[in-house]
Amino acid sequence: MGESILTPAFGRVDGALVCEGVALETIAETVSTPTYVYSANAIREQYARLARALAPVPHRVHYSVKASSSLGILALLRSLGAGVDIVSGGELYRARLAGFGGEDIVFSGVGKTEAELREALEARTLLINVESEGELRLLERVARDLGVVAPVALRVNPEVTVNTPHHYTRTGERGLKFGIPYGEAPAVARLAASLPHTRLLGLDMHIGSQVSELDPYRLGMLRLLELYEQLRAEGAGEIRYLDIGGGLAVTYDSEAPIDLDAFADAVLPSIAASRLTLLVEPGRFLVGNAGVLLTRVLYRKRTGGREYVITDAGMNDLLRPSHYNAYHRIEAVRPRGARVVADIVGPVCESGDFFALDRDVDDVQPGDLLVIHSAGAYGFSMASNYNSRPRAAEVLVDGERFGVITTRERYEDLVRHEQLTPDWRTGGCS
Ligand code: LLP
Repeated sequence: MGESILTPAFGRVDGALVCEGVALETIAETVSTPTYVYSANAIREQYARLARALAPVPHRVHYSVKASSSLGILALLRSLGAGVDIVSGGELYRARLAGFGGEDIVFSGVGKTEAELREALEARTLLINVESEGELRLLERVARDLGVVAPVALRVNPEVTVNTPHHYTRTGERGLKFGIPYGEAPAVARLAASLPHTRLLGLDMHIGSQVSELDPYRLGMLRLLELYEQLRAEGAGEIRYLDIGGGLAVTYDSEAPIDLDAFADAVLPSIAASRLTLLVEPGRFLVGNAGVLLTRVLYRKRTGGREYVITDAGMNDLLRPSHYNAYHRIEAVRPRGARVVADIVGPVCESGDFFALDRDVDDVQPGDLLVIHSAGAYGFSMASNYNSRPRAAEVLVDGERFGVITTRERYEDLVRHEQLTPDWRTGGCS
């Protein structure tokens, strides 16, 4: 394989891009476009790297399902030994279908409903990461009604400074909606330890996403361990897990990749001393650079001095550039050689529907294929049907083989839950 892009999984053979041993042109011809293409081996490799780095301490890797939620991806991660981190009843449903048992699942999320808490208890999840006193009291009631004891970890806001590329992806700073404020955590922990139907088994944080600095992890973790020592001294709870969340950054452009050894050095010594089991909830790290969005150029257009490349993928397929102003590398599957500076945009009726602005790119023409790199995390999982566009297909590549893991939606799928006239009922005002 030729030149390596962001992972060795994508390279060139005879000038054209391939994923592992499969030509992207073949996938486009067989499955059409737009299509998400994932390299199974890139996911395996990231999982193995992380597992190796954490090997010195007892640990569990719980893949954060929201990053890429399709059953084919979940089944692959399960085969590697991962557990999952979920944030909704829907993700619980997916995880179960992919074969994860309750003991493989931790349930995070700032706004779990009563029904979701019940589903998690019925599934016997390993932990429910509780984010407020209100949630704890509701969980106590639901557990009591079911006649069970709920396994609780408290998600604490460690209130550290977190630098991520966009403020939407910071969660561990003071005043954000996530977690229990650090100062209130001891009281909520004591409550969790004392309620008859909750068992305090863990402390948890998740400081943000695409975090490339180690200090927020180190500091956040120290704050959690301080709390742990305080609770232990009081005899409160039976804490055995320390969950430091996800967030590990990947390379989108020319950023330095996260140094896993340095991450391990920052985190492992204190966890080893505490004798707790470490949990991590990575999403992007495992799948981000394992996936690309394959799209075909529909048109070229020049207007008002700007050059446009119009693709058959749109912001409904990959929201990140528009929503977070996120950078994704884009290149032609079979470059023509000449270059052009253009805006690469989709067909959606919004000026915010772009993948790149003023980008130096191959001088692609209608019919040519482009790949948008680093689209494996928060790509398909954030896709919508906006503009009544059926969602893309997803394909998994493994060596010389490829297979569809998500079929492209059809028009009928768009209206499956709709009806022309409502089932009228009366509204009870009389
Ligand atoms: N754990 C919890 C509780 C989370 O909320 C998240 C992500 C993760 C783990 C996984 O984080 P990761 O390892 O993937 O960074 N849509 C945004 C990212 C939002 C992340 C939300 N929470 C994006 O496209 O950048």
